[in-house]
Amino acid sequence: MSSTLQIQRIKESKRSLVDFDNLQFGSQFSDHMFVCDYKDGSWQNPSIEPYAPISLDPSAKIFHYGQSIFEGMKAYKDEQKNTLLFRPLDNIKRLNISAKRLVIPEFPEDLFMQGLTELLKIDDQWIPTKEGSSLYIRPFIFATGSGFHASPSTEYKLIIATAPSGAYFAGKVRVLIEEHYARSANGGVGFAKAGGNYAGQFYPTQLAIEKGYNQVIWTDDTSHEYIEEAGAMNIFIRINDTLLTSPTSDRILDGITRKSIIQIAKDAGISVDIRKVTVNEVIAAAKSGELKELFGAGTAAVISPIAAFGYQGTDYDLPDLENSYASLLKKKITDIQTNKSEDPYGWRV
Ligand code: COI
Repeated sequence: MSSTLQIQRIKESKRSLVDFDNLQFGSQFSDHMFVCDYKDGSWQNPSIEPYAPISLDPSAKIFHYGQSIFEGMKAYKDEQKNTLLFRPLDNIKRLNISAKRLVIPEFPEDLFMQGLTELLKIDDQWIPTKEGSSLYIRPFIFATGSGFHASPSTEYKLIIATAPSGAYFAGKVRVLIEEHYARSANGGVGFAKAGGNYAGQFYPTQLAIEKGYNQVIWTDDTSHEYIEEAGAMNIFIRINDTLLTSPTSDRILDGITRKSIIQIAKDAGISVDIRKVTVNEVIAAAKSGELKELFGAGTAAVISPIAAFGYQGTDYDLPDLENSYASLLKKKITDIQTNKSEDPYGWRV
């Protein structure tokens, strides 16, 4: 593998076409992307080139066998206009964990960081400065090799594309606790950021939306007795003053926001219990008034508070707390991410 980076700049920037005061999430893309191909047993010379459509053979294995993984990251600007990333090495390490599970060749960590750093320098003007917005970074690898044989591809493409973005969700969400479908299973790929994990969520989520909810709360695939994740995010449950979240496993993503929130909450003196949580326990706590908060945690939304949940035909409202853990923890993590507070953990890069 050589790391000679070829740079081809766009002729005319598209930046003036973007309204940076009204950004949606992940729907407009910066001028450039980082690209690296894998063939003949190694990652080839990478390049930074204008963001543009790509051409693939119709038999490319990504279309048929779904060999595709991704990551989600964000870049921020602080008041001194420094570009900041949050725990980026954790993303490349997890990309390679996902790669291994999908028989995709691992991508070199140093080349990833070099390419991302250069891309962010070139598209520096695309990093939003408005509070609540960021440059969403989407690294992904997919199988480009051709052929209908159901076996791993011998060719792949890694792209890092970026999108100036606003909030992922507007306001609080209503969720439905899933009783039939599952996003993952023991021995499966739930812990990986595999594209197919998300495709499999769309249908149950669509059914939930038809019933008036925004998202699904995933439960375990065998008994549906245990709460596992919230939509495309990890889940946190506050019963009285204790914050609960499911332990990572084959079925649960080792979320970077999740583990950061756990650390920050513990250091803020909040009692955190990482254990399996049953649906019955949550229903009982909702009925007794001990269920104080439910929220999702992930890179895109950071923390997404849940206003109400449905289960077996009954809706349960969550109280609207003034000093919620969700708002406290969201402030603490985003202050670290954006250099508004000290970073005792060394997470900010
Ligand atoms: C995340 O927030 O971590 C995600 O992966 C969200 C993405 C599916 C948009």
